[in-house]
Amino acid sequence: MKIKKLLLQNFRNYENETFTFADGLNVLFGKNGQGKTNCAEAVFYLCTGASLRIRHDKQLIKVGEEYAKITAEAENRYGNVTIEAVIHENKREIRVNGSKIAKNADLMGHVNSVFFSPGELRLIQDGPDERRRFMNISISQTSPSYYTALLRYNKILDQRNALLKNPDYSLVLDTLPVWDEQLCKYASIIVCKRREFLEKLAPLAKQMHAFLTDGAEELIVRADKRYVGNEEEVASTLNARLANAYEKDMRLGFTTVGPHRDDIDVLVGGLDAKAYASQGQTRTSALALKLAEVQIFKDISGEYPVLVLDDVMSELDLPRRKKLVEHIQGMQTLITCTHTNRVLYGKSCNKIRIEGGKIKS
Ligand SMILES: Nc1ncnc2c1ncn2[C@@H]1O[C@H](COP(=O)(O)OP(=O)(O)OP(=O)(O)O)[C@@H](O)[C@H]1O
Ligand SMILES: [Mg+2]
Repeated sequence: MKIKKLLLQNFRNYENETFTFADGLNVLFGKNGQGKTNCAEAVFYLCTGASLRIRHDKQLIKVGEEYAKITAEAENRYGNVTIEAVIHENKREIRVNGSKIAKNADLMGHVNSVFFSPGELRLIQDGPDERRRFMNISISQTSPSYYTALLRYNKILDQRNALLKNPDYSLVLDTLPVWDEQLCKYASIIVCKRREFLEKLAPLAKQMHAFLTDGAEELIVRADKRYVGNEEEVASTLNARLANAYEKDMRLGFTTVGPHRDDIDVLVGGLDAKAYASQGQTRTSALALKLAEVQIFKDISGEYPVLVLDDVMSELDLPRRKKLVEHIQGMQTLITCTHTNRVLYGKSCNKIRIEGGKIKS
């Protein structure tokens, strides 16, 4: 997959700029605060319908303007695809090849992207939220059924949590099993898809990590082992766990078990990365996970996603940088950096200088 042209209108600090990207390596460079990350964010938005840094689309609109517009001319193995997003403060409209999409799920898969930025370190350092987010974004891009299950699950979960806050205990007890049956139906889809994803991810991440570190350290990624069997079996296991937690859930006023609480274990050199990994190990592990994700997309869809690496180089030592550049040959990559010599090492690329929200030739 590749993005050939990207047009940004009133998007963040861009007024009206058109980027032309090459098939291989594209380097967006410039001083701090010029718009490099903003451009990367626009790509991510068109691929996933979500912003990187914020929950409210408003911040994406250039200050003082009414709306923002992002247009990409892209290509996947089925041919050319044009994706266009028009973002207003309280609504947005996304079109794929001119037709308005009804739901976000319809956007997924046209152009997949894998994004890495310094914020991605949270994937290793932070609580389970970040790792679930990683799985949710990644799996959704290749599995609309996962994305739909996730939306339905979250909706039912909200209703279940609202019910748990109801002071009428007997009503709550009578009603919970009804919600739980629905909840388990979608939860089991989520759990099984995540397990499938992690079974692919773990060996690839281990391999990528060994490549980046020259075999010096081992990265282990492990799924939650509490769920076994097919969707039906997972649903019944979870139903029992939910029933077991009725009292606790009612006391706390929210649902304490389910895929919205699950985590994955990430170990570096045998130790829990969250608690023990050094800065460099954290960076390398997060990058290995992302590059493994790239490979999964390739295996599932038959083509590489667009790889966006925001400010990745400044965090890596020279041997790891060189390894990375070696690895990404052959896929379309957008790299942002402040100095191109940190990236190139003799490799040719399309250099784009950005200054104050403008492309300078
Ligand atoms: N909605 C907006 N309207 C106008 N300007 C905005 C908007 N959102 C962000 N900006 C501006 O965009 C700039 C930041 O751009 P960006 O994050 O892309 O910088 P960068 O080139 O990646 O810098 P760095 O090298 O520091 O990461 C800031 O100056 C910020 O004020
Ligand atoms: Mg930046």
